[in-house]
Amino acid sequence: MSDKESETAPFGYRQVTAEDKQGLVNEVFAKVADRYDQMNDLMSGGLHRFWKDDFVSRLAPPRHASAFSVLDVAGGTGDIAFRIARGSGPGTRITVADISPEMIAEGKRRASMEPFGEKCDFMVANAEALPFDDQRFDAYTIAFGIRNVTAIDKALGEAYRVLRPGGHFLCLEFSHVAVPGLAALYDAYSMTAIPAIGKVVTGDGAPYRYLVESIRTFPDQDNFAAMIAAAGFARVNHRNLSGGIVAIHSGWRI
Ligand SMILES: C[S@@+](CC[C@H](N)C(=O)[O-])C[C@H]1O[C@@H](n2cnc3c(N)ncnc32)[C@H](O)[C@@H]1O
Repeated sequence: MSDKESETAPFGYRQVTAEDKQGLVNEVFAKVADRYDQMNDLMSGGLHRFWKDDFVSRLAPPRHASAFSVLDVAGGTGDIAFRIARGSGPGTRITVADISPEMIAEGKRRASMEPFGEKCDFMVANAEALPFDDQRFDAYTIAFGIRNVTAIDKALGEAYRVLRPGGHFLCLEFSHVAVPGLAALYDAYSMTAIPAIGKVVTGDGAPYRYLVESIRTFPDQDNFAAMIAAAGFARVNHRNLSGGIVAIHSGWRI
């Protein structure tokens, strides 16, 4: 067995080879792509809409006509990209990159119906090896995506590479609940209700069990902030939303 083959990565609570992890993650999103948006509403009780609005307001895309280019990685069905498109001026372009052809197909379908969909381009790409020149983008966003990536440090390195100096890195991700009473409630809800809702709506609870387990194995707020700083970003900080159920991490390439 080569060194590379012996590397492992968490897939939910299981440890799998790094090579297998991406394939398993891709299967999850291929299965849920056409119900993904509906499931987000059901599982979060609509909260994901507020989290995403808050996230895009942190980005504060320009309202004027000057050029502003955003790369939305793991952008899936375009939820973040459409919010940026709606809230920005005519000079803003959003490139949505996602490893799942099924999620990208769903995003393109939605873009054709969105009023500002023409400001968004969709492409299949891996966060760990982005097909873009160095210093190409003004901002990099990733929402509920980075915990699915096998080599998070590689993805952070790529984020740094494609941002121009002065560029903004923003990540929205499930995190670790900082309020004790809420933590127990949230644990019980997420481990039982979410896979059950997933089973009723999509016929299969397993992808949702993975999603919940992957939240548990993702680094907490401070450890993730340290990883972002290690990739080269400056002024790294985070803000908890809903008691730390999710957190927004921010950093700058200077
Ligand atoms: C939970 S969805 C988030 C979609 C969207 N950002 C949102 O907030 O609604 C996670 C996405 O990450 C994508 N993904 C997983 N691994 C990836 C990788 N290595 N590179 C790019 N995208 C990846 C999946 O295909 C999926 O579309």
